[in-house]
Amino acid sequence: MHNNYLTLPVVFTMLSNHFPFTYGHSYAWLILVVLLVIGAWIRHFFNLRHMGRTVWAIPVTAAIAIAVLAILIRPQTESAAGTPAVPFAQVAKIVGQRCAACHSDHPTRMASAPRGVKLDTAAEIKAQAQAIKEQAVQTKAMPLGNVTGMTQAERDLLGRWLAQGARIP
Ligand code: HEC
Repeated sequence: MHNNYLTLPVVFTMLSNHFPFTYGHSYAWLILVVLLVIGAWIRHFFNLRHMGRTVWAIPVTAAIAIAVLAILIRPQTESAAGTPAVPFAQVAKIVGQRCAACHSDHPTRMASAPRGVKLDTAAEIKAQAQAIKEQAVQTKAMPLGNVTGMTQAERDLLGRWLAQGARIP
């Protein structure tokens, strides 16, 4: 019975490393619980259908629940209004400490820069501004497994610099 109802949640959990906006969220545990319930609900549809009853209200309500969840946990865009300008030197220092071990011409933790994303120079950091926002500020997928120990304050600082237009000298 448990295996039957947990089929879809287990599949989602196995694939979830592709969805950092779920597990990187501060309410990740609650999001997982909600997805467990929705997954079991969808499974219930299949169970009934195999017994000859088709209840379309189940997939419809499940789809609505997933849409509502996605809207609730969507990445928030920070407003830069009234925040003091973040000097690029601070950004470069954080990226150097937290990202360059992998994303560099000469990485120490990887054989070569993953996905070709190099963050050695100001121009490279600027060119990746949008990707840095998605990976390190909004979803916290990076640094990978946070092996370099990036803090929330550092993510907030990067977020402010990005919201201010990602200016480099
Ligand atoms: C321990 C090594 C490591 C560290 C440290 C690291 N990354 Fe990554 N990064 C990776 C790997 C591996 C991938 C490729 C992931 C994949 O292919 O799914 C990646 C991919 C990326 C990508 C491309 C994502 C995409 O989907 O195209 C960006 C952008 C990125 N990292 C930014 C950063 C930033 C910004 C930091 C620092 C805050 C950082 N990374 C720290 C290992 C690391």
